[in-house]
Amino acid sequence: MKRVALLSVFMLMPLAAQADALEQAAVQKSQEAMKEFGMTLKATLQAAMQAGGPMNAIPVCHTEAPKIAQQMSEKYGVDIHRTSLKPRATPPVEWEMAVLEGFARQKADGKPVGELVWKEVAQVDDKPTLRMMKAIGADAVCLSCHGAAVNPDVLAKIQMLYPNDKAVGFAEGDIRGAFSVSVPLAAVQ
Ligand code: HEC
Repeated sequence: MKRVALLSVFMLMPLAAQADALEQAAVQKSQEAMKEFGMTLKATLQAAMQAGGPMNAIPVCHTEAPKIAQQMSEKYGVDIHRTSLKPRATPPVEWEMAVLEGFARQKADGKPVGELVWKEVAQVDDKPTLRMMKAIGADAVCLSCHGAAVNPDVLAKIQMLYPNDKAVGFAEGDIRGAFSVSVPLAAVQ
């Protein structure tokens, strides 16, 4: 009953207000998805590092990171993944590249990495779709696999799994990459 009542209120709203409400719901859903995705990745990484350092954690990241992205996409009904201007596994598409370049400019202008967020509603396959990105900073723990002085054995293992790897040479506080979420507004309730 409650759902029906809510739905009818929604349908009485002017179209512009309906679009705003949908966009807000999509933003909220995207934020929740990014938060859980980030926390799950960190917990998985931490457990793997504690169990056997970076040599053990590399294969875990390799198999688990894409799986977790898939699980989060299904759970939230969105497309969520990570990407980067210096990618290891998931290079950016054109619009993501433009956003990442914008983040790099804003950081150079002094904006904290934690505040770098971007969103737009774009027509994707003729459907209004929320696109949202949020920067991911590099912490000390990231540098054993993404830093400037990666242990040679670790580096060899990374290059074996990712022959085109570009995701090294980062320092603490750099933008390592970003979460990217896309969700058609019609898929949000
Ligand atoms: C044990 C090694 C290791 C550590 C430590 C590590 N990563 Fe990664 N990272 C990887 C691997 C391997 C991949 C590729 C995963 C895949 O195949 O999807 C990756 C991919 C990524 C990506 C996806 C974009 C891309 O380059 O393809 C981001 C963003 C990222 N890592 C950020 C971080 C951050 C932030 C930290 C620290 C909190 C971190 N990583 C710590 C190994 C590591």
